[in-house]
This record gives sequence, C-alpha cells and structure tokens, in this order.
Amino acid sequence: MLRVLFLVFLLASAQSGSLQKEAPPAPHNIFILAGQSNMSGSGGVELNATTGFLYWDGILPPECQPNASIFRLDADLKWVQATEPLHDGIDTMLINGVGPGMPFAHEILHLKPDYGTIGLVPCALSGSSIKRGQRGSSLYDRLMRRVNAAVESGGKVRGMLWYQGGADSMAYENAIAYERLLTQFFRDVTEELNSPGFMILQAAIASAKEKFTSIVRAAQFNVKEPNLLTVDADRLPVEWDNLHLNTRGQIQLGNLLASTYLKTSTLVVK
Ligand SMILES: *[C@@H]1O[C@H](CO)[C@@H](O)[C@H](O)[C@H]1NC(C)=O
Ligand SMILES: *[C@@H]1O[C@H](CO)[C@@H](O)[C@H](O)[C@H]1NC(C)=O
Ligand SMILES: *[C@@H]1O[C@H](CO)[C@@H](O)[C@H](O)[C@H]1NC(C)=O
Repeated sequence: MLRVLFLVFLLASAQSGSLQKEAPPAPHNIFILAGQSNMSGSGGVELNATTGFLYWDGILPPECQPNASIFRLDADLKWVQATEPLHDGIDTMLINGVGPGMPFAHEILHLKPDYGTIGLVPCALSGSSIKRGQRGSSLYDRLMRRVNAAVESGGKVRGMLWYQGGADSMAYENAIAYERLLTQFFRDVTEELNSPGFMILQAAIASAKEKFTSIVRAAQFNVKEPNLLTVDADRLPVEWDNLHLNTRGQIQLGNLLASTYLKTSTLVVK
C-alpha cells in the first residue's frame, strides 16, 4: 500500500515538474508601446535603391538583443520572448525595424537589476492620427484588448511609451485640435486601465519635419497630466529619410525614457 502511494507521489511530482517547465511566461511589469512608425520601429529600415522597396537590415546592437527577462505580447495575444521587430504582425502598415521598446527594457534591467521581468505590449500603427486612436475607435479597442490579454497572466501595467504626432502635423486643423485630443486620450487610457502608478512616457517628435510640427510639439509639452513624463526626441540621429529615428537614435530614446521613468516613478506600487 505504502509503495503504491509512494509511486503515485512520484508520478504526481514528475507531472508537476513537467508542467512547471511548460508554464507560459507571466511578466511582472507591463509596458504598452503605442504611437506611429517611430514607435513601431524605424531603426534599420533601409531603402533598396534597385527595387525601391524598404527592408529591415536586421542589425541588433546589444541593447536590442533578446533577454531572458524581456517578453512581448505577440499578434496572437501570447507572451513570447521578445525579439525585434517587436511590432511584427501588429503594425502591418510599414516594414518594422528597431524601436525604443527593447532598449527601454534593457536599460531598466541595467539600472535596476532587481526590477523583475518586463512584458512589452506593442500597439503602434504607422501613420495613425490622434483622432484615429480616440476612445471608441478600433485602434483604441485593439490597445485595450491587448492590454487586457497582457494582464491576465497576473502582471501590472506600469506605463505606456507614447511616440506619435507626425500624422497630425500636416494639416493646420489637425495640429490645432491635437492638444485637446491628446489630453482626452491620455485621460481615457489612464481611467480605463485604473492601474496604480500607471505612467505615460511621451517622446515629443522632432521639430521642423512637417509643416505644422511646431504646433504639435507645443501641445506635447503643454499637456500637464499628473502621470505624464515627456522627453524630447528632437536632435536624436535619424535615418536616410531624414525623418525617422535610426537604430542609434532609438537606443538613445529608450535609455532616456527608462532613466526618466525610474527617476520619477516613486508612485510605482510593487
Ligand atoms: C536589393 O534588391 C535586389 C533585388 O532583389 C537584391 O539583389 C539586392 O541584394 C538588394 N540590396 C540590398 C542592399 O539589400
Ligand atoms: C538582460 O539584460 C540586462 C540589461 O541589459 C543584463 O544586465 C543581463 O545580463 C541580461 N541577461 C541575460 C540573461 O542576458
Ligand atoms: C517620427 O515619424 C514622423 C512621421 O510621422 C516624423 O514626422 C517625425 O518627425 C519622426 N521623427 C522624430 C525623430 O520624431
């Protein structure tokens, strides 16, 4: 009898061992990545002059390489180990390359080695305007659906990296509506997520790129939400198109967002 019980115990523990090995990832600290093409990953997206097509050069500096503590929510709403391009299958508008997400996560782990695992939730869409992403839109719904899937495994939403505004810089009527719509979007996301310590980490777009960029940039610095931190992407190195951040620029931006976040986020509840 005892021997049978012992055998049952052995079988049970072998099974739980194998279950543990197959346990899906459940990152503790979740960050949303949202905005336009600079967020989706413009780094290393080059133009093939022969074909006229864009391609990603696939070059991954250490700050962009996979790490056992960094995950991404893929297009099928599953956590996987994060690899570039993070927006693969999510932003289908353009060719995706390196964005600020991986360098951001690396820098957090570098500055705070006991931070725990990080889950990135890519949600950006190239060319999307602020109007297109307002509450009630399919883009907003997709962001919420992805974040809701992300927190099912038990992690907490710590923040949203936000890098957008180019699409609203081309027409005057869009640029002057930007501050109001941006404020509304930040408030809606913060209210709906209702996650203690949730911070919005905004990158202000580079100056003098589009006709009305100065109005949009002013709006980005004018918005004063209590959970908003804004850094400036102006003068970071750009690609051949003289518009989008290159890989080096994305790394600098990710580092800046991470150090700014850790310096200011005394709100974070463990
Ligand atoms: C550009 O495309 C052509 C035709 O597909 C290919 O042979 C060539 O290697 C490409 N160049 C680069 C730099 O990728
Ligand atoms: C993960 O990244 C951090 C920060 O770059 C680094 O310190 C750590 O060694 C990396 N871990 C692994 C397993 O590569
Ligand atoms: C990012 O992309 C947009 C295109 O929408 C561009 O206008 C903007 O200036 C870009 N670059 C930087 C460095 O912010």
